[in-house]
Amino acid sequence: MENRGENLKLAGLAPVGVLPENQNEGVGSLLIQYGLPECRDAGIDAVVVLGDPGYYSRFGFERASEYGLGNEYGADEGFMVKPLTEGALDDADGIVTYQPEFQQDEE
Ligand SMILES: CC(C)(COP(=O)(O)OP(=O)(O)OC[C@H]1O[C@@H](n2cnc3c(N)ncnc32)[C@H](O)[C@@H]1OP(=O)(O)O)[C@@H](O)C(=O)NCCC(=O)NCCS
Repeated sequence: MENRGENLKLAGLAPVGVLPENQNEGVGSLLIQYGLPECRDAGIDAVVVLGDPGYYSRFGFERASEYGLGNEYGADEGFMVKPLTEGALDDADGIVTYQPEFQQDEE
């Protein structure tokens, strides 16, 4: 992350995908609900996601801008964050940048 809060350890949740024939069976929810505590146990402070607020809000993700976090894609309500420990984002303020792998063009 750029700017203040550069010592924060963030993880990006992406991509989440479930085969069409298996959607709406709870698979996506299980993946996310399993992954979040794993991230916390690995020392991650907060998890960001770019996606549909209607879906990710059910896992406690909130609009990242409420925590002073922007993103490099110009997304607004679709850019969300979930702190994994209390107060993890109290001093956060800056632009979250994804690792280079996320920038690669599809071939
Ligand atoms: C989004 C996705 C991962 C959800 O996985 P899933 O296993 O089908 O989801 P679950 O079974 O855990 O949850 C289903 C619930 O989520 C809701 N939901 C699914 N996609 C949603 C969306 N984009 N916005 C809001 N709600 C959504 C369903 O309506 C359902 O609601 P209900 O519990 O009230 O019936 C899956 O639909 C998918 O792979 N979609 C295509 C790829 C994609 O859009 N990925 C997200 C990239 S950020």
